Amino acid sequence: MADADLTILKALLQSRGQFVSGNTLAGQLGLSRVGVWARLEKLRAKGFQFEAARHRGYRFLREPERLHGELVRAHLELRGCPVQLHFFPEIDSTNAEAERRLAAAEATPMAILASRQTKGRGRLGRDWHSPEDGNIYLSLVFRPHLPPARLQSFTLWMGLRLCACLHRVLGVEPMVKWPNDLFVGRRKFGGILTEARINSDLTRDLTFGIGLNINSELAGWPEAVRSTATSLREAVGQPLQVNQLAAETVVAAHEAYEAYVQRDVGEELAVLWRHYDLLAGKEVQAQGEHGPLVGVAEGIDTAGALQLRRADGRVIAVRAGEVTLGSASLAAG
Ligand code: BTN
Repeated sequence: MADADLTILKALLQSRGQFVSGNTLAGQLGLSRVGVWARLEKLRAKGFQFEAARHRGYRFLREPERLHGELVRAHLELRGCPVQLHFFPEIDSTNAEAERRLAAAEATPMAILASRQTKGRGRLGRDWHSPEDGNIYLSLVFRPHLPPARLQSFTLWMGLRLCACLHRVLGVEPMVKWPNDLFVGRRKFGGILTEARINSDLTRDLTFGIGLNINSELAGWPEAVRSTATSLREAVGQPLQVNQLAAETVVAAHEAYEAYVQRDVGEELAVLWRHYDLLAGKEVQAQGEHGPLVGVAEGIDTAGALQLRRADGRVIAVRAGEVTLGSASLAAG
């Protein structure tokens, strides 16, 4: 009955807080009014809150605190987003699931979303701790058929556009810590892992994986993690609507991808970078070929490499790896 849930949720979301009559829902679903009531009771048991009023019908009050696949899908369909969503309460890794679906020749664009990962992958071979805690573990999968060089700044662009989206929706101002960590204040709330497969000279497919700490409460975290990591709930000061945010993230990432493959976004990227660059003007340490490099971060070049001004005035381009701010590490996972 997933389709029935999708129909009900779309109808109730679309009415924007107004009542939808039981007859209307029954007509759309091909069910009796008692059948509609029974479906709504099942959704209530999953944490949805609806108001029922005699002669008026039902209206949506609150979404559940946990992710619910049909609700995210309902948001996406109402936004006209063409991304196929696959939702899992638990999975090894959404990026690994993307690989399996690509190997099975499934159509793109698709999104894999999970409430929990048992083998979440981080950058540089690390694990991404992925408990069920009201967070988002998401992979968007595309087939860009572009030369790899054309995708050099793709992850930076996607991180910037997600910051702009979260800034608009939540009012807090997230920042990108080069190359692909998402911060609020001095603590990390999100990370990006882009994985691509290349066929001769074209990118066959691209998986853009993103982990966002949305509703985690720091109280339950180990002290060591609390000093470096945070959640958007902590930044905003109240619980957030994780389903709506998951849909916003999919819509923003899909739009950002389309813009990137269709045109030269270099100018827009530079403008966004100036706005959302966490490291700008700060002393940072990067790992150079011959040991640590210290300098002041001065933005990025057109290929997305971090520009580091050394004490002797020389500017060095850092192309990969991880940087730490001053002497205190800002890396978190
Ligand atoms: C980082 O190390 O900062 C990147 C973390 C990326 C984690 C996300 S969660 C969804 C997707 N699936 C994974 O296994 N990893 C990415």
